[in-house]
Amino acid sequence: MYKTHGCGDLREEHIGEKVTLAGWVHRRRDHGGVTFIDLRDSSGRVQVVFNSKSISQTLIEKIRLEWVLQVTGIVCLRPAGSENPNLPTGTIEVSAIGCEILNPAKALPFPINDEEMIDENIRLTYRYLDLRRERMHQNLILRHRVIKFMRDYLDAHNFIEIETPMLFKTTPEGARDYLVPSRLYPGKFYALPQSPQQLKQLLQVAGFERYFQIARCFRDEDLRGDRQPEFTQLDIEMSFVTRDDILTLVEDLFTNLVVSVTPKKKLLFSPWQILTYTEALDRFGTDKPDLRFGMELHDVSDVLKNSEFQIFKNALIAGEVIKCILAPGCADYSRKKIDEIISFAKEQGAKGVITLALSPDGVKGTLQKFITSSEVDTLCTQTGAQQGDLILFVADRKSIVNKVLGALRLFLRDRLKLITSDAMAFAWVVDFPMFEWNEEEKKWDAAHHPFTMPKKEDLPKLDSDPASVLSDAYDMVCNGYELASGSIRIHDRAVQTRIFQILGLSDEEIRGKFGHILEAFEFGAPPHGGIAPGVDRLVMLLADEVNIREVIAFPKNQSARDLMADAPSSATDKQLSELHIRLDVSDEEL
Ligand code: AMO
Repeated sequence: MYKTHGCGDLREEHIGEKVTLAGWVHRRRDHGGVTFIDLRDSSGRVQVVFNSKSISQTLIEKIRLEWVLQVTGIVCLRPAGSENPNLPTGTIEVSAIGCEILNPAKALPFPINDEEMIDENIRLTYRYLDLRRERMHQNLILRHRVIKFMRDYLDAHNFIEIETPMLFKTTPEGARDYLVPSRLYPGKFYALPQSPQQLKQLLQVAGFERYFQIARCFRDEDLRGDRQPEFTQLDIEMSFVTRDDILTLVEDLFTNLVVSVTPKKKLLFSPWQILTYTEALDRFGTDKPDLRFGMELHDVSDVLKNSEFQIFKNALIAGEVIKCILAPGCADYSRKKIDEIISFAKEQGAKGVITLALSPDGVKGTLQKFITSSEVDTLCTQTGAQQGDLILFVADRKSIVNKVLGALRLFLRDRLKLITSDAMAFAWVVDFPMFEWNEEEKKWDAAHHPFTMPKKEDLPKLDSDPASVLSDAYDMVCNGYELASGSIRIHDRAVQTRIFQILGLSDEEIRGKFGHILEAFEFGAPPHGGIAPGVDRLVMLLADEVNIREVIAFPKNQSARDLMADAPSSATDKQLSELHIRLDVSDEEL
């Protein structure tokens, strides 16, 4: 037996017991002939005291950080004054009577025993060492608890977990596919699933009315802090349900999950707010609003319709809008701070930002000379602006104004430190448009995915006015992130075919890519719908991290590489020839 107890499990009740521990040397301190070693294993840490009366001095001197030891000793109370209130084992220590070195360790590329910031590329190259660190350990334990809660909750609600294949066919979710060449079928490829979307729908046709899966998804898309090439969804699909059945279930699941797994988090809304897509854009400039703070966008086109200010005049003549947000207490912002705001807004696509500061000694800013006092009064009434506030206006096309002010809102959130980290503001965004116009390719794309049901009342407009068709899609948002998307699905072959046609697929493409699901719809497909919350993003928020890489054991870096194993890497000529692949890359690229 390697150990009788976990290092972190020892307490005063064990005093006097002889214990055997095994773990890593977390820290060592030498004090006048006595050596203190914090021994760490997955249960935590305990202080072990070595002195040369019981253990050879030569052995004690050899021991270095992260060596793996087996130690036998007696649990003792720490001398008064030497307790460590920050450790659960802080009132006791183990007096070593035997020690065996199970494995030494080379000098480490970075310290394990403190949380100092280390270059991420080094952390990812030695991820197994990085994961030894307390913070990363806690993140993965939290992830485990979150997933376990999901499984237990859904099991208790009669859901069945079903695995679906990784080697499959294209599943459009708006990204490029990762393709896997077939050895047996020259020139043919499997696609790794961007999500189990089609398979979970086919499981509804198969009669599994309540399905879920902790599902790995693969998407070849531009990476961001909240995006990885492979990530995990809690994939859910249900039959004979309305949108509200799904929202109610998932809201209950997530509310209970947060309360039970991370009780220190504060849920700001119960029940969650429900915003339409249009309302979210109008009020917050984005379809994934951070509702932990106010600072809403105000459309003041009407208030300023007679403005003498040329930029406003021109915008309104061109059919554009004037919107603003209030930066509370920022009327005295220096030129430098305002310039920072303007250059940030320009990066977001604004031509500029117009300012009006409500200073105690009168209005200031770009608009000072161009605004009447009655306009100021109406502005204040309509927006709630008060003395001391800085009003930031953007005039442009509505989509640009929303994007810029939505981003400025978050910029000011951070600058003005408006958030306490424990708040969780969950909300639903509903009634999304069915289609988005793809200007580059001059065609319609599905705003969610092509299996989403258009709103029944909008079906007659599919041909005449696709832009105005809304869908039965919904997103779960939290603290400015999209945590989940879902929809009621099409279960009728004719409607599904029509949607594919509007998306520009030829009959042949429809048959080749989606023939299986269209045919399934003709064998008694039930009405169904579902949702897929992203597990990584949820755990990231619960762990107070700003990057999903911190909650994934072995993530890819920002350039989609695994630095530890050096993947992707070359294949041998034999592998390539078995896969019927001839490379078209230069030596430098290889
Ligand atoms: P969608 O594509 O919106 O919907 O994805 C659902 C959720 O998955 C997470 N997510 C990601 N997380 C990390 N890295 C990524 N690259 C990434 N892409 C998506 C997000 C997102 O909200 N099949 C549909 C769901 C459905 O209709 O049921 C789907 O996949 O949290």
